[in-house]
Amino acid sequence: MGMIEVEDFKKSFGSKQVHKGVSFYVKTGECLGLIGGSGAGKSVILRSLIGLERPDSGKIVIDGTEVTALKERELVEVRKKVAYVFQGGALFDSMTVFENLAYPLREHTQLSETEIRRKILHQLEEFGLGGNENLLPASLSGGMQKRVGLARAMMMSPEVVLYDEPTAGLDPYNTKKIQEHILDLKRRGVTSILVTHDMPTAFAVCDKLAILLNGRIEAQGTMEQLEKDSKGLIAKFINGEAA
Ligand SMILES: Nc1ncnc2c1ncn2[C@@H]1O[C@H](COP(=O)(O)OP(=O)(O)OP(=O)(O)O)[C@@H](O)[C@H]1O
Ligand SMILES: [Mg+2]
Repeated sequence: MGMIEVEDFKKSFGSKQVHKGVSFYVKTGECLGLIGGSGAGKSVILRSLIGLERPDSGKIVIDGTEVTALKERELVEVRKKVAYVFQGGALFDSMTVFENLAYPLREHTQLSETEIRRKILHQLEEFGLGGNENLLPASLSGGMQKRVGLARAMMMSPEVVLYDEPTAGLDPYNTKKIQEHILDLKRRGVTSILVTHDMPTAFAVCDKLAILLNGRIEAQGTMEQLEKDSKGLIAKFINGEAA
């Protein structure tokens, strides 16, 4: 039994079938790297895991709950447990860093404002963002915005984290910081899916890789299996010979 199970996921946009039956699972505490060309449908899968989108058919189960069978208001429980680090940060532009981080706590918990403040200041220190709480996202660098997005996603101590290209556009130092955060959460037993084009990061943090190609998971395996199978599909993808 996986913490995350996706079974025969199918979805079309207009006449274009993007997902033709995607199946995979992630065990508790594991990190699955989900790779695939631009437009392959990776972000749609992540969004569907927390019910922001629905497949046309197929099943998604997270921690024993069939997400695809839930009504909108029942998804709240899933979203408390599963954090989504959006591609591009998706911060609220008109809110300060502090307000961005306070949002999930005010939305989902009964914590007092004093407690919220304490938690946020601690979290900002953890993510190397101390002193930036009153700034608006627009005045932060790209790397800092990514870290604010990550810090916000972690406010609810999620059991599952979905990372959508968390290192895209980051310099080596910030990339390493993000890798360390992902590894640190893994050590705490967090289950995750990492969607990325950044193969060094995938190799640094993932236990398994799966490649989404032509609407299906065409190949998957542990990092060791993939190293041995250097002529396989994933190796080809990494070398730019398949997309
Ligand atoms: N709301 C939508 N309406 C129409 N088409 C959509 C919608 N959302 C996604 N698509 C299409 O589905 C396909 C998959 O999109 P998705 O964003 O999941 O790709 P991706 O694998 O995350 O790509 P990238 O690596 O560039 O982020 C694309 O062709 C996209 O145009
Ligand atoms: Mg995407």
